[in-house]
Amino acid sequence: MNLSRNEASILEALSETRETTIESLIEEIDIARGPAEQAARELAGKELVELSEDSRNIYELTDEGEKYIEDGLPERRAFEYIMGKNGVSIDELREEIEEFDIAIGHMKRKNWIDIDNGYIEAGEAPRSNEEEALDKIDRGMDLGDDEAGSLIDRNLADSKKIREITLRITEKGSEVVAEGLEIDSATSRLTHEMLAEGSWKEYEFSHYNVEAESEEIHGGKVHILRQLADRVKKVFISMGFEEMEGPHVDSEFYINDCLFMPQDHPARTHWDKFLVEEPSHIDSLPEDLVENIRDTHLEGVDEGEGYHSEWSEDVARLLNLRGHTTSLSMRYISGGVEPPAKYFSVDKVYRNDTLDPTHLLEFFQIEGWVMAKDLSVRDLMGTFDEFYSRFGITDLEFKPHYNPYTEPSFEIFGDHPETGEMIEIGNSGMFRREVLDPLGVDRDVEVIAWGLALERLLMLIYGFEDIRDVHGTLCDLKLLREVPELWR
Ligand code: PHE
Repeated sequence: MNLSRNEASILEALSETRETTIESLIEEIDIARGPAEQAARELAGKELVELSEDSRNIYELTDEGEKYIEDGLPERRAFEYIMGKNGVSIDELREEIEEFDIAIGHMKRKNWIDIDNGYIEAGEAPRSNEEEALDKIDRGMDLGDDEAGSLIDRNLADSKKIREITLRITEKGSEVVAEGLEIDSATSRLTHEMLAEGSWKEYEFSHYNVEAESEEIHGGKVHILRQLADRVKKVFISMGFEEMEGPHVDSEFYINDCLFMPQDHPARTHWDKFLVEEPSHIDSLPEDLVENIRDTHLEGVDEGEGYHSEWSEDVARLLNLRGHTTSLSMRYISGGVEPPAKYFSVDKVYRNDTLDPTHLLEFFQIEGWVMAKDLSVRDLMGTFDEFYSRFGITDLEFKPHYNPYTEPSFEIFGDHPETGEMIEIGNSGMFRREVLDPLGVDRDVEVIAWGLALERLLMLIYGFEDIRDVHGTLCDLKLLREVPELWR
């Protein structure tokens, strides 16, 4: 079998060692990493070697780590100073040891000392994990991830991922070597001179193996959740909607009170919301609107009843991380819009939920509303049919629901393509007069409205079962890299 010079050198070297990493080959046969990898992949394509790829961490000391290799860890130096003395005062040790805070912290954590009345007594100080690890690095030995952990935590070492390729000669490879290697004289390079002089006719050119495996290169990529958010915006705009924008931190007034949520409603207790400490209250609220909302909470509208509990402007002025973007709808509607009008937003909301496969503490809500004459529940359902069909979702189900601010109200469900379960993807309804009257909306128009979960839509489209795979600290990077982009 004809092999290139590089392929032949690698195979020959391997016929002695049987198995080796590409790094040691590079040293042994004096070849650069790129061509070595290319030749290795060619050999694998010809089934003369097998490749396995792996990545592992190597650890390098930070400047602080280097310093402690020289001087010893601060807690060890401090301990040695205390040892043999009959109690050393904290002030004396502070004078003596430059990194006093670090030293005392670690001596305490490791239980090396007792402190009594400002005096430190030495106990036992066995060699620590950090000392073992530093010593190993110093002697040029490799560290396991566990061993390195204690150094990384203290910022004494950094980790670096390296990719390692191991080559193993196959039986066929050994046979080829035994038969004697023939080096292919073909060239892979066509030069300007060859063309100008016509000498290319005398050359034999090597063939490219276009099926050989190659290194994967991952470029940057827009996260699929962001892609979907952009797509949702485009869909609403194509349906004639305008986009709303507004504050993530907002007053309870817009988040709850405008929505006819009584101030003693269970969802308004501190377990469910993220209150802001500083500043704790919004500066001011529109006076007329506050009066309207107070009246509606106390008296209701028409023959209806209000709540019999108190209504306090101080509570309404409390600042929260918004738990829904319906606060934006309240801001826009109270700002005065001329019907017919259609608005949407796709933005972050924050909830003090328990994390599980379908819940995060923050997520994206797809908010929207339509204000026009003669709207009914059929318009609400029709809007969802239209919106979700743009994402290939056509099997929606509606379940009657309760919100203090809509009547009637519906939860929206969709089929999960993997588990077959119906999952809740949104909440919706028609705003009550108790919401619309105080905002100044005419009696002859209706408002249909909704809040849908962007992450749930993503789950239905892609079949993800655990939202934590897609975003947050535990997300699955491989999945995010490999997932196809549907919208570009
Ligand atoms: N605010 C509701 C939620 O977060 C969604 C909704 C908005 C429902 C508007 C009805 C009307 O679940």
